[in-house]
Amino acid sequence: MTLITFHSFRRGVGRSHIVANLAGLLADSGRRVGLIDGNLRLPGLSAYVGLPEPQINRTLNDYLRGKCEIEQATYAITTGLGTASLWLIPASTNAQDISYATRYGYDIDLFANGLLTIREEMALDLLLVEMHAGLDEESIRLMAIADKAAIVLRHDQSDYQGTAVMVDVVRKLDGPIPLLIANELPRHYPTDEAITRLEAIYNCQVAGVLHHNDDLQITGSGLFVARHPTHPLTKTLQRIAENLLS
Ligand SMILES: Nc1ncnc2c1ncn2[C@@H]1O[C@H](COP(=O)(O)OP(=O)(O)O)[C@@H](O)[C@H]1O
Ligand SMILES: [Mg+2]
Repeated sequence: MTLITFHSFRRGVGRSHIVANLAGLLADSGRRVGLIDGNLRLPGLSAYVGLPEPQINRTLNDYLRGKCEIEQATYAITTGLGTASLWLIPASTNAQDISYATRYGYDIDLFANGLLTIREEMALDLLLVEMHAGLDEESIRLMAIADKAAIVLRHDQSDYQGTAVMVDVVRKLDGPIPLLIANELPRHYPTDEAITRLEAIYNCQVAGVLHHNDDLQITGSGLFVARHPTHPLTKTLQRIAENLLS
């Protein structure tokens, strides 16, 4: 099984949207995919994959606080993409749970054990974990057990310094492969030029770049790639999904 963790220096860079849709596409390619909302401070993946709140009983927070088994917080997702096998472990959107997690953090060893359990139980080929923004002990320790650590950044360089530090940290861990995904490129900026530039700046493999697209702001239930299968953004995400596996 391949474990890919997703990070970013800043929040609001498009991490959740990208991770959720990549998980859907990877599941659609025939793989058994697990998706974990490890962003307990700003949870959001359940909305992106279209898992309705009322259907959520147990969450990752409950598991990490010893209130349930990890399997009890695992939900099969109806992706709208053929027979795709995708499971989500959501984080709680309850205000008290969020403030508890923000204040006390969580036991990363317990988190890692949960990942191993779910890998076995669901016979997963791939496990994608969205972590919270920033660089701290929890995110670094999770990076350390990953096969690949993808760092999402905005293209406008507002997070240049922080992203460079993150790439450096992943490299020093000497295990996970660092990858970059740049989001919100201006509409007319050529993809190839952006990739070449980013590779030169960060000296790191770029899994892909996504242009800003107003269609993303149009809300709807479920994965963007399932609602818009022929959209240019879906095609770009498909290429990124392939690059993640190569
Ligand atoms: N390429 C894009 N074009 C336009 N809007 C985007 C793009 N990527 C993300 N967004 C929007 O930016 C906001 C933040 O995205 P989100 O994935 O929740 O960020 P994060 O998980 O990094 O905090 C969302 O409203 C999302 O729809
Ligand atoms: Mg998010």
